[in-house]
Order: sequence, then structure tokens, then C-alpha cells
Amino acid sequence: MSIRGVNIHIDQLKHRYSAKSPLTFDGVSLQSPPGEVLAIIGRSGCGKSTLLHILAGLLQASGGTVRLDEEVVQKPSPHWVMMFQAPHLYPWMKVAQNVGTGLRFAGWKEARIRERVEEAIRLVDLEAHADNNVQDLSGGQQQRVALARSLVMEPELLLLDEPFSALDAFTRSALQRDVRSIAKRLGFNVVIVTHDIDEAVIMADRAVIMAGSPGRIMTELEVDLPDPRERHDPAVQAMRTRLMDAFQDAAQGKSGPKGNEAAQEAIAANEPQAAGQHG
Ligand SMILES: Nc1ncnc2c1ncn2[C@@H]1O[C@H](COP(=O)(O)OP(=O)(O)OP(=O)(O)O)[C@@H](O)[C@H]1O
Ligand SMILES: [Mg+2]
Repeated sequence: MSIRGVNIHIDQLKHRYSAKSPLTFDGVSLQSPPGEVLAIIGRSGCGKSTLLHILAGLLQASGGTVRLDEEVVQKPSPHWVMMFQAPHLYPWMKVAQNVGTGLRFAGWKEARIRERVEEAIRLVDLEAHADNNVQDLSGGQQQRVALARSLVMEPELLLLDEPFSALDAFTRSALQRDVRSIAKRLGFNVVIVTHDIDEAVIMADRAVIMAGSPGRIMTELEVDLPDPRERHDPAVQAMRTRLMDAFQDAAQGKSGPKGNEAAQEAIAANEPQAAGQHG
């Protein structure tokens, strides 16, 4: 499977749900280089899901733009796929059939579908369950099916809206680790919305913190930790504390809305390697 990442450019994005409702967020500018795993953290109601829906092309912003490389996001596409908290599988289909639905819609030949589906099922460690009915799987396994169904489309960008919050702690941490390692291996971008600081530390290359009403990006932090990341590692714990402090400062209004200097630097630093990451 060959997947490439994208440069994400979010420029002065704002949103309100109707003419009478208040601004959900305003002046959100953000960039993310190819292959980055970016976490968006913030209290309930600051507009994280709204932002993600706009990134997925499921919702039109009231102002500003989202570009993936040069393409303006205006509608859903198999290149940028979203995974939700509930896996939304077809309960009457087996695992492999669920994973192949997108390719079937796209008119692929059965032999190619079978090959690609096998590969995606292998990536998420579900080989033993390929021919099972999805309703016979655990919640974590069903979320892995949803992940495989996203991966067969070779997305440039995977958008995750608290996708593991309904799972038990053990299953959740296995999925966090696996999604990060698959993304790093294949090279696509991930944007994950969460209010779980640990999740951001385990999964992300960089975390941005949203707060306020209307929501704004208050601060950001590089999560420069080596892989694999273990929760009890002192460096991971120290990063957790830094992120928690930044989160609290943002919530108390101690940090103002931020420019995007660190992201610009990250993009400049990543651009030469990006071409080599593909595939
Ligand atoms: N469809 C909608 N119509 C009108 N207002 C909405 C709609 N969806 C969300 N909102 C409002 O927009 C604001 C931001 O909601 P959003 O769901 O983006 O927040 P969030 O940061 O994802 O919160 P949570 O952490 O609880 O998921 C909230 O005040 C919410 O009530
Ligand atoms: Mg939400």
C-alpha cells in the first residue's frame, strides 16, 4: 500500500452554525507538514469536532480556507477520511466485506479488492477474524475494522474524533500505539481530536490547545519523544506534565492566541524528507 502525506494549511478559519448562533471558533490558522500526527486538545464545546468536520469536508466553514497541498477541501473525499467514536460497520457483513466497501463503491475489480483488503486487515492485526461476522467482534476489534476500512482507501489524511474513548484502557492504549505506528510506517497525516492528554502524548508529534469562546488556538507543544512511547517512561511523564500545564494555562487565559511559527519551522524542516517518505 503506498500512501503519501500532505501539507495541511488552515487559514483564518471561522465558523458559526447559523446567523443567530455565536461564533464557534474564529481566526484558526494551523499548518501541519506531511506525515505529522497532530493532536487538537481542548475542553468540551470549544469547537474541536466542528473543526474536524470542516477538515473532512463534511461541513462548510463560515470563513477561511482549508487546503491539503494545493487542493481546497470543500467536500468529502476518500483522500481524507474520518473515524468516529462508533465504528459504524455493516452488521450483516463479514470483516473483509466491511473493509472492502469503499473499494467496491469505487468500482474496483474483486481480485484487486481482495488483495488490498487482505493487506489492510494485516496492518490492523485482524487476520484471524477476516471471515468473522462483525457483530461477533469486541468493540476494540470493531474499531480496528473501521480503521482498516479507512486505510484501504489509502488516505492522505486520517481524521480521528475521540475514536477510542468508548474502549477500555487496555484496548485503547493498544490502538493508540498501533495507529501511530501504522501512520508512521505508511506516511499519512493524522489529526486527532481528544481531551485526553495521555492520548496526545502517546500518539502525537505536536499538540495544539484550543480554548475560549469563540474557540482559538492558544498554544502548541512539540511532542518530541522517541518511539515506542511507554506511559511509565519518565520522559513521557514529563511531557504529560508540560502539556497538562499548557492546557491549564490556556483554560485560564494565561496564554494568548498563538501564531504558527513552530509549524512553519516544522514544515520547512520536513519538506525535503517528505518526498522520500511516500510509499
Ligand atoms: N449542529 C450544530 N448546530 C448548532 N450548534 C452546534 C452544532 N454542533 C455543535 N454546536 C455547538 O458548537 C460548539 C462547539 O461544538 P463541538 O462539538 O465542535 O465542540 P467539541 O470541542 O468537539 O466538544 P466535545 O469535547 O464535547 O466533543 C458547542 O457550543 C456546540 O453546542
Ligand atoms: Mg467533539
